[in-house]
Amino acid sequence: MSTASPSPHASSAASGQTGVPEFDTDLFSEDVVVDPYPHYRRLRDLGPVAYLTSQQMHALGRYDEVRAVLADDETFISGQGVHFNDVFNELMRGAILTSDGPEHEQLRQVVAHRLTPRALREERASIEAKADALVTALLERDEVLDAVTDIAQAMPMSVVPDFLGFPQDCRDRLIDWALAGLEAGGPPSDRHAASIPAAIEMGEYTGGLVAQRRTLPGSLGHDLLAAADRGEVAMDRCPALLIDYFGPSLETTISALGSAIALFAQHPDQWDLLRANPDLAGSAFNEVIRLESPLRAFTRVAGRDTEIGGHPLPKGSRVAVFFASANRDERKWDRPDAFDITRQNADHVALGYGVHGCAGQGLARLEITSVLTGLARSVARLEPAGEPRPIVHSIVRSYTSVPVRLHAA
Ligand code: HEM
Repeated sequence: MSTASPSPHASSAASGQTGVPEFDTDLFSEDVVVDPYPHYRRLRDLGPVAYLTSQQMHALGRYDEVRAVLADDETFISGQGVHFNDVFNELMRGAILTSDGPEHEQLRQVVAHRLTPRALREERASIEAKADALVTALLERDEVLDAVTDIAQAMPMSVVPDFLGFPQDCRDRLIDWALAGLEAGGPPSDRHAASIPAAIEMGEYTGGLVAQRRTLPGSLGHDLLAAADRGEVAMDRCPALLIDYFGPSLETTISALGSAIALFAQHPDQWDLLRANPDLAGSAFNEVIRLESPLRAFTRVAGRDTEIGGHPLPKGSRVAVFFASANRDERKWDRPDAFDITRQNADHVALGYGVHGCAGQGLARLEITSVLTGLARSVARLEPAGEPRPIVHSIVRSYTSVPVRLHAA
């Protein structure tokens, strides 16, 4: 748990020489992470760029600047890490997420064939069948469900480990590892320190998986080892590359599904719209992750002297890029806090933007739209059965519990 105490108001004092306004609230304190949206609004209102006094780095909360920085990967580099602490940034050097230019392009290509729309078309029937079986089993249980464990975790756990090639013996650890791996990249705090043992366990397990060549046959992990055998990538980079795909693939999808159920339960009019027109499932996926972006923020480093919004930014400055704030920027979105699955929302930045834009978004979209269309076919109403409980996490926005009752159509 974070020990930093948030100050109730953002300071509008200008920082040092650059005139960038300072923001004194700790955006990673427990109070803030469970209800971050009013704080993001104050961050945006301060200006195109602010200085986070708690993390001692610049921060972007507005859509235009977030997107511009993500698009300009020559100026705002990932190679010095995209995380919030130096140790993790050093540890994760040279992964897909944390490399630049031709090296990044080459690493991203190694197993890109697994995630193309064409490759995913071959996965579609099996993923849809899993979603349908899940919905049928849920409807047989005439009781209050927890949408997090029963739906949001159940679906990606039935897809992602097989897809990536993680054997059965680690399955009960994967969700903890995914959360710990992301928290390990957060700013220093008690919460961050508590995540380290599980993050190390994940690293050691993945190292052993590669060394013993135990990735499941036919999986992305298996293809990765085959690429290493052909000399396309060094074998000693394979554990980090596997973590590259595992790290952001599980908890993000769990988050999006949990938020989807919570939002549709709170907005029955939107559920009726989806039921009447299942083709809206893709737009519903976008709207859920626009409104409740699963990854709050990553960082970039200015690779040369530059400026943001007229403020000079010296080479080497680290900048926090708040995807989740940009996705609610009132300068960009009409009624930004409203859940509206019919709005034009495809240009949200919940999946990033530019060369580092999410490599696995097709898989996430397929999993989530399959569950939503399966539910929309058979469930007339999602009745809230208690308050959703948000998790306390520096990087992930998600729920630990979303109690809900399904009413069959
Ligand atoms: C709703 C679900 C998901 C969300 C919200 C999400 C979000 C993101 C975001 C914001 C980035 C950009 C990071 C940056 O610019 O620094 C990213 C990158 C990435 N994601 Fe996802 N992700 C999701 C699902 C997945 C899945 C299922 C996989 C794997 C199968 C995956 C694999 C990756 C990889 C490998 C990258 C690094 C891409 C690069 O640096 O070139 N993600 N994701």
